[in-house]
Amino acid sequence: MKKRWVYGLAGVALAVLLTALWLCRWEKKDGPQKRTSMRIGVLLYRGDDTFISTLRMALEKQAKEYEQESGIKVTLDIMDAKSSQNTQNSQVERLISLGCDALCVNIVDRSAASIIIDKAMAAGMPVVFFNREPVEEDMNRWEKLYYVGTDAKESAVLQGEILVDAYRKNPRILDRNGDGIVKYVLLEGETSHQDSLIRTEWSIQTLKDGNVPLEKLTGGIANWERSQASALMEQWLEEYPDQIELVICNNDDMALGAIDAIEREGIVGGSIKLVGIDGIPAGQEALKAGKLFGTVESDKEQYAKLIFDIASSLAKGKDAKEKADLEKEKYYWCPQRVLTQQKY
Ligand code: BGC
Repeated sequence: MKKRWVYGLAGVALAVLLTALWLCRWEKKDGPQKRTSMRIGVLLYRGDDTFISTLRMALEKQAKEYEQESGIKVTLDIMDAKSSQNTQNSQVERLISLGCDALCVNIVDRSAASIIIDKAMAAGMPVVFFNREPVEEDMNRWEKLYYVGTDAKESAVLQGEILVDAYRKNPRILDRNGDGIVKYVLLEGETSHQDSLIRTEWSIQTLKDGNVPLEKLTGGIANWERSQASALMEQWLEEYPDQIELVICNNDDMALGAIDAIEREGIVGGSIKLVGIDGIPAGQEALKAGKLFGTVESDKEQYAKLIFDIASSLAKGKDAKEKADLEKEKYYWCPQRVLTQQKY
């Protein structure tokens, strides 16, 4: 009898202790409960990707601002998968075991999202995917999955329009030798990335729709990387001496790589026109220096704010849908704008 009492009391004490521990993260204020801390996991496909590292800094800034405004302590656990999906899957498990409230995932392999979604669903942990878009079928598996990115067709059409506008003003801006044809080379991002395929297609289509006479000399995949782009451009400058008039790049980092090769060859800066996408700080510098002809800037502050706002709302158990202008209740597209040399 006495033993049962002791067990009963110990059970009650344990329940009280667990409840108190849970309530530690919450504070009662005027009736509704207010959060005092949150933990958000951020998984990057590659921490040394220039665009992703710019976005990471913007995210950290958002978290700090939110902390100051709301008084809620934010812990961002940022992990780099270094291009390995297996590593990223283990990182997801680790962040779940650390008790994160939401995950922001820049997935390595966009066709492998189901593994991460399974783990998140089992743990009841909402996920905001960003920049690398899972297939729609995966996105529709659960209501707590969101995507933040830039509309690839919009980026490409804006990039193409920079060139169409320039050609209309003066064909010789692009057609340097005046033979009536703009000879170009193309630097593409990863083949498996949704942005590469769409950007390439719509950039060229926009030039064709704008009646710019074109001839593709060659093209290649530089996986978004400056050094790979630089190596390809070096090779093309040798293969097509004095012929390349335009370099269309799926992102700024590859445009910077092509500029590196042009500079190594001693070609006068600005004579070969280059366009990029992203508007990363180094790209904007190259634009000001007259080395890059134009780029399409995505608003990184807004991009990071959206990722963070959706993740923090979900972390608080709130509905993220009221946070933003969402498409199909799941997708948010970050605003973009054209930057050209004329604007400086
Ligand atoms: C950006 C690239 C970046 C890639 C990474 C693209 O949307 O334009 O600069 O390397 O995403 O996933």
